[in-house]
Amino acid sequence: MTDNPAVYFAPLEGVTDAVYRRAHRASFPGVEKYYMPFVSPSRSMSFTVREASDLSPEKNRGIRAVPQVLAREGDLAAQMIRVLADQGYPEVNLNLGCPVGTVTGKGKGSAMLRDVDGLRRFLDQVYAAPPAQVSVKTRIGWESPEEWPLLAAIYREYPISELTVHPRTRGQFYTGEAWPEALAELQGAKFPVVYNGDLFTAEDCRRLLEKYPWVSALMLGRGLVTNPALARELAGGPPLQLEDITGFHRRLWAAYARECPPQAALGRMRQMMRFFFGCFDAPTRVKKDVLRAGNDREYEDAAEALFDCPMKSAPAFAGI
Ligand SMILES: Cc1cc2nc3c(=O)[nH]c(=O)nc-3n(C[C@H](O)[C@H](O)[C@H](O)COP(=O)(O)O)c2cc1C
Repeated sequence: MTDNPAVYFAPLEGVTDAVYRRAHRASFPGVEKYYMPFVSPSRSMSFTVREASDLSPEKNRGIRAVPQVLAREGDLAAQMIRVLADQGYPEVNLNLGCPVGTVTGKGKGSAMLRDVDGLRRFLDQVYAAPPAQVSVKTRIGWESPEEWPLLAAIYREYPISELTVHPRTRGQFYTGEAWPEALAELQGAKFPVVYNGDLFTAEDCRRLLEKYPWVSALMLGRGLVTNPALARELAGGPPLQLEDITGFHRRLWAAYARECPPQAALGRMRQMMRFFFGCFDAPTRVKKDVLRAGNDREYEDAAEALFDCPMKSAPAFAGI
C-alpha cells in the first residue's frame, strides 16, 4: 500500500477558480494536481471572459492545473481538447458525472451514462487521436449501480490516461451513500484509477487506501475546501491550525479584492466560508452574519467573529 498517495483537488464550480487555486497552492503543500471546473465548448470554440482568464497559463503558473471539458458531441470535445493542448495543457479531463439538471437536460455530464452507444461514439471521437492526455471523471451510473459493470467495461476499451470514479449515481447527486466497492470493477485496468467521494478526514483517506491500496490517487473536493490542510495532514504534516485558516483567508480575500469587482469578491468569499463553517463551533447568528455581509467592512467583522469561535477538534465538511 502507498503511504503517501497522490492527492488531487477536485473541481468545484464557484469555488476552486484560479484565484483559489493559486492561494491554496501558496498556503498548503501536498496537492499534486488541481482539476478546474468545467468549460462547455460551443461550435465557435470561444471562451467567456471569465473562462479565458481562469484557463490562461499565467493565472495557473506553477500549478499543475487540469482543464475539464463538458460536452455531448465527441467532435466538439475533441476540438476543445486541441484548443487546450495548444494552450500548453498536457492533460484534459472529461466530465461524465455532473448531475445538475441544467447540464443533464442537454444530455451532458452524467446524462452521457444513460446511453452507452452514444457514450462509445463520444469516446471513439475523443480518443481517435488526442493531442493531450485525456482523463475521465465519472459516476457509476444514471439511475442504478447495476449500470456500472458495463460502463466500467466500456472505459477499459479506451486509452484513458486516468479514470476518476465518484461512486454515486446521478440520482444521488452528492448525498446518500457513496459506494466505493464499485472500484473493484476496475482492479487491473490498464489506466490508473483515482477515487473521489466523501473523503473528509485523513482517517477517511487512510481507510479507503487500506481497502483499495491499488488506487493511484485520491481526489478530494468538499473535504479539502473545508480543511485546506487535509493533503498536508495526510502526508504526515501538522493538522489544520487556526493560523492556517486565518492566513489562507487573508490571502484569498486580498486576491479576490484585487482581481474581482467588489460584489463578486464578496460572493466568492461567502461561498467559501460556507465550507469553513465545518471548522468552527459557531452559533447560527455568526454564520448568518458572514452570509449576509453586504460590504467589505461587514464581511471582515463577521469573518473575525467566526474565527473567534472555538475550532472543532476534527474539522470536516458538514454540509453547505
Ligand atoms: C459546488 C460544487 C461544484 C462542483 N463542480 C464540479 C465541476 O465543475 N466539475 C466536476 O467534475 N465536478 C464538480 N463537482 C463535483 C466534485 O468535483 C466532487 O466530485 C464531489 O464534490 C464529490 O467529491 P467530495 O466528496 O470529495 O466533495 C462539484 C461539486 C460541488 C459541491
